[in-house]
Amino acid sequence: MNIGIDKIGFYTPEQYVDMEKLAEVRGVEPAKYTIGIGQERMAVASLHEDAVSMAVNAALSILDDEDRKAIDLVLFGTESGVDHSKSAAVWVHHLTGIQKNARSFELKQACYSATGGIKMALGHIALNPESKALVIGSDIAKYGLNTSGEPTQGAGAVAMVISSDPRILVLDNDSAALTKDISDFWRPLYSDYAFVDGKFSNESYLSFLEDVWENYKEKTDRELKDFEAVCFHLPYTKMAKKAILRLTKDAKEETERLMTHYENSIVYNKQVGNIYTGSLYLSLLSLLEQSSKLTEGSRIGLFSYGSGAVGEFFSGTVQPRYEDFLNKEMHEATLENRRELPIEEYEELLQKSLPKDGSDFEAKSDQLSEGRAYLVAIKENVRKYEIK
Ligand code: CAA
Repeated sequence: MNIGIDKIGFYTPEQYVDMEKLAEVRGVEPAKYTIGIGQERMAVASLHEDAVSMAVNAALSILDDEDRKAIDLVLFGTESGVDHSKSAAVWVHHLTGIQKNARSFELKQACYSATGGIKMALGHIALNPESKALVIGSDIAKYGLNTSGEPTQGAGAVAMVISSDPRILVLDNDSAALTKDISDFWRPLYSDYAFVDGKFSNESYLSFLEDVWENYKEKTDRELKDFEAVCFHLPYTKMAKKAILRLTKDAKEETERLMTHYENSIVYNKQVGNIYTGSLYLSLLSLLEQSSKLTEGSRIGLFSYGSGAVGEFFSGTVQPRYEDFLNKEMHEATLENRRELPIEEYEELLQKSLPKDGSDFEAKSDQLSEGRAYLVAIKENVRKYEIK
């Protein structure tokens, strides 16, 4: 049975910071951010947006009534969870109108957990071919003002419907994974900001890639020539360039093809920044919508990395007429129609946070378009979401 991604959509906040302007204010050569890091714009979430509201918006952009009836598993990957007990998946289940007899829960392993969700969904659909699963990655990446991680922030969510006979990408049952207890990037429960050992995190990412790729080749007998393109977890878009160079160090003849696809696979991420759990899938969406070179049967490799750390390499094959089931114009318009945040406003916003002492919160949603889900209030410690 073929199982994989039947639908994919994304959401990002309607405001961004221009990276060249941020570089100027930080006294940094703008090319460091735009070329050295590879980011042009960085999405910034308002206080009335969180992992839940962004996930709902991503899911609403793809779900129809048939999906709402068939989905019986909602898996929410995030490292920006809003409650230690109640899962973000329960709010998504409610706000998107999915039928009641469903399992809904949250998964955590840094940027890896949406991949873990997809792998669980594959097993679920294999046992229940009529079912569908909704898998989401939704996060706000925050390192703080004036930190080396600052230009690698971002915010957004990707939602995917996993089903049998998927119309976009059949996922192969061909994974190679690796887990190692390391401290390259983490966020203790008491901190709004992530802690990171930047250089070590880059090196860990690349060494996990090498390890799982070697393991994958042994398990499957596949080589780089069997892949039309490879998509990577993108903490910032330059990272995938380093990854391709590492992968092709003994296969230079494959570099040009992979680099051509790389350019298409970073178009959206360059405009959004890091969205942690959703980043790999935003890159996949960017490749699918921006490349004119993919055809039925093109095999795409996928490398997922979540600090701490878990890595996995797996693959999927592009389905006939996959373009008909994407939403290129809408996604381009979403990115184009955002408001640029002046740097002073961004700095003010980044330092604000929701109350942590149990006091109430009332949201302003004046920056959001009609139809968007948002956090309307926190009253007596209960979060309330609404669709505007
Ligand atoms: N023109 C062009 N390029 C320039 C330049 C200029 N004027 N000035 C500098 N550069 C280049 C540098 O040469 C460097 O390129 P290479 O990486 O190819 O060597 C690049 O810009 C970045 O410069 P630095 O290494 O000096 O930057 P930095 O020390 O300020 O920090 C960072 C970079 C480590 C990525 C930092 O932003 C960070 O810690 N980010 C958060 C952690 C992260 O994203 N890690 C990625 C792997 S972990 C992961 O993937 C999980 C996750 O999502 C967090």
